[in-house]
Amino acid sequence: MKLKLAVLPGDGIGPEIIDQAMKAVKAVALKFNHELEYNFGLTGAVAIDKLGEPYPEETHELCMQADAVLFGAIGDPKYDNDPKAKVRPEQGLLLMRKKLGLYANIRPVETFESLLHKSPLRRELVEGADFVAIRELTGGIYFGEKGRKDNGNTAFDTCTYTRDEVERILKLGYEFALKRNKKLTVVDKANVLESSRLWREVAQEMAPNYPDVKTEYMFVDNAAMQIIQWPKNFDVMVTENMFGDILTDEASVITGSLGLLPSASIGIHTSVFEPIHGSYPQATGKNIANPIATILSAAMLFEYAFSLMDEGKLIRDAVAASMKEQVVTEDIAEGKAYKTSEVGDWIADYIAKA
Ligand code: IPM
Ligand code: MN
Repeated sequence: MKLKLAVLPGDGIGPEIIDQAMKAVKAVALKFNHELEYNFGLTGAVAIDKLGEPYPEETHELCMQADAVLFGAIGDPKYDNDPKAKVRPEQGLLLMRKKLGLYANIRPVETFESLLHKSPLRRELVEGADFVAIRELTGGIYFGEKGRKDNGNTAFDTCTYTRDEVERILKLGYEFALKRNKKLTVVDKANVLESSRLWREVAQEMAPNYPDVKTEYMFVDNAAMQIIQWPKNFDVMVTENMFGDILTDEASVITGSLGLLPSASIGIHTSVFEPIHGSYPQATGKNIANPIATILSAAMLFEYAFSLMDEGKLIRDAVAASMKEQVVTEDIAEGKAYKTSEVGDWIADYIAKA
C-alpha cells in the first residue's frame, strides 16, 4: 500500500521524538512492503521564526495532500510570557484543526502496569482503567463568535453547535463504543447550557439506532469527579470542545503515564496523530525526552488512517517489549536510563527483527 505522510516536528523536543517515531514507521513500512512517501513541514514557533506564521499555507498544502499527518509538539516559552504577542504557536494548532476539519480528538486512556505507582490515584482505583475520550475539536466556544464591547470592558465568547456537528461526533462515539465495551457516556451541562441541551436532544434521538450500546448522560462537573473516583466505569466518553480539553487533561494524568499517551485527530481532509504531551522546552536538544507517546501515535496512524491493524500492533508490541526490558528514558527508568535516540533505535530494531 502507498502511504503518503506529512511530518510536522514542530517545536522543542518535537524534532527529536518525531525522529524516533519515523524510525518505527520506516521499519514497519519495510517489514510489510508498504511504499512510504513523507515530506516535512513547518509549524509552531519554528514556522513563525522562518515564515512569520504558525501554520503556513505551504504546510497546509502538504497536509492536504497527505493521507495522514504525524505531528510532534508546538509551543515556545518566549510566547507564553508575552501577553501582547501578535502571533502565537497555538494559533497554528487551532488553524490547522479548522482548515483540515479535524473534528474529533481521540485520546485512549490506558494504564501501563510498570507505571501504576506514578498515578496520583490509589492503585486499586486506576488499575485496569481503559477508556477512550472523544473531544469535539472544531466547534463550541473555541470557534464561536467572540469579542469586546463597552469600550473593551465587556468580553464575550460564544458556544455554538449545529445539529450536524453534534451528530457527526456522536456517530463516531457510537462506532467506538460498538467496537469496545458498548457504553457511551455523553458529557454535557444540559441543566444550564442551551448548546448542551442540543447535544442531549440529538443523543436521545440517536440512541435507539444503537440498541447494543448503553447510552449514559453525565453533567461535566460530575464527570470530572467520576474520572477520579471510578475511572474503570468509563468505556467511551464523548463531549464538546472545551469540556473535552479539560477532561482529557484530567484523564491523561490518572494513569501515571502522561509521557506515554498518544492521540489522533480525525478529520474531513486528513487526520493528525500526535503525543498528548507538549514541547517540553527544558529538555530540547538533550536527547532525554520520552519518544513513546509519539511512537504510539504512529501506531494509531497505521490503525486509524490506513486500517493497517497488524502494523499498528507490531509497534505496540515493540513498545511493550521496550518497557518490559526497561529500555526507557530517564522519566520512567528505574535503573539505567536510555537516551531518546537509543529507545527509538531499540524499537525500530525490534520491529525489523520481528
Ligand atoms: C490541547 C491544547 C490546545 C487546546 C491549546 C494549546 C490551544 O491545550 O490540544 O488540548 O486547548 O485545544
Ligand atoms: Mn488542552
